[in-house]
Amino acid sequence: MDSIKVTGGNRLNGTIPISGAKNAALPLMIASLLTADDLVLENVPHLADVESLIRILTNHGVDYRVEGKRPAHAGQQGRNIAFRAGEIVDTTAPYELVSRMRASFWVIGPLLARMHKAKVSLPGGCAIGTRPVDLFIESLEAMGARIAIENGYAVAEAPGGLKGTEYTFSKVSVGATHVAMMAATLAKGKTVLNNAAREPEVVDLANCLVAMGAKITGAGTSAITIEGVDALHGTRHRVLPDRIETGTYAMAVAIAGGDVLLKDAQAPLLQNALDVLVQAGVEIEQKNDGIRVMRNGHGIKPVDVTTEPFPGFPTDLQAQFMALMTQAEGTSTIRETIFENRFMHVQELARLGARITLNGQEATVHGPSPLKGAEVMATDLRASVSLVMAGLVADGETTVTRVYHLDRGFEHLEQKLSACGAAVERISS
Ligand code: UD1
Repeated sequence: MDSIKVTGGNRLNGTIPISGAKNAALPLMIASLLTADDLVLENVPHLADVESLIRILTNHGVDYRVEGKRPAHAGQQGRNIAFRAGEIVDTTAPYELVSRMRASFWVIGPLLARMHKAKVSLPGGCAIGTRPVDLFIESLEAMGARIAIENGYAVAEAPGGLKGTEYTFSKVSVGATHVAMMAATLAKGKTVLNNAAREPEVVDLANCLVAMGAKITGAGTSAITIEGVDALHGTRHRVLPDRIETGTYAMAVAIAGGDVLLKDAQAPLLQNALDVLVQAGVEIEQKNDGIRVMRNGHGIKPVDVTTEPFPGFPTDLQAQFMALMTQAEGTSTIRETIFENRFMHVQELARLGARITLNGQEATVHGPSPLKGAEVMATDLRASVSLVMAGLVADGETTVTRVYHLDRGFEHLEQKLSACGAAVERISS
């Protein structure tokens, strides 16, 4: 199993290209199931999660073609991939495939909408909480689907097709919003989704669906209206830049010090997190071609944060921010409100010398702590990158094991960091 070795102490200087967003690419790829035409997605990142989803889609009968290059020879740039679900040959998503990644459960929406049936394994994914699927099921049932849970599968059918409805999510869920919105595009009549997620990835998916012929208004607000249409057609759509990768590297520059241009990053996608970094003493400049992040000389100030649905501080940046706060000159409090078990990085950061006390959903970080390199274990996707970040300032060598978590969501992490002067390398074993 590969590990990543970081030798601390180097500042970061240079340019880091920001990839297409994993969390937008996945639902966009799934949207290809809604049409028999080509859906061409530009700037799809090279990630293990993308490969896992390609396996799922292929199993349903989707053909895909990487434009310009053979998949095996693709370079560092995001790829343009054409997906074509000309004929859906199988409406079952089996456990072996779905268990690798929670988002693959989302195929249930398009399959029900287009094929009027689906049998999808209940998901696995990151161990960051129970992550139920009740909202997906409830919203699809509101559109007339009948869904039973049998032998670990959600078995769903909608004879005659889905029907438009007004549905209010009892909790804000990004995944359930994606799925209900996709399903409603082919339902009969009008659907209104209240208390919908407002994340930029929901807007990106809505924009792509509209380009495919869907009638959607209100994406990016908490009430989305979808007028069902008979069929969708193909289009070409560019995946928006990854705001979590952007925030992660901004925090990496903050922790290590230096001056880096995050190329193609867009500040409005993560304004809250950037504001928090400014409060912490980091300089941020929006440029035409990206975001410049600088920390030179002065120290890091403690800032309290609470994770919230967009536009609040993202849960996917919580672990990285905690790594940063271990170096702040004072005490900070980090409250996690989205997932109930998303503090597994605390024990690992403690192995490096961080002083963090946990009280339920609240972590108190006592900074500054001099960190010392050690062997640490990646526990989930975002937690693992927080350990690499801590390694950038730790004295000596930090080895992060189980990096398959990292490979699910960070494209060319070690190349991007080492190109800016960090001593980061992958040890293959
Ligand atoms: C997505 C993102 C993930 C991010 C999360 C929150 C992708 C691929 N993943 O995950 O990176 O951390 O949004 O911004 O885009 N919930 C229920 N019932 C449900 C569905 C969700 O109770 O049926 C709960 C979850 O347990 C959690 C909360 O709702 O507490 C938010 O989850 P959700 O927004 O659905 O997260 P994901 O879509 O899984």
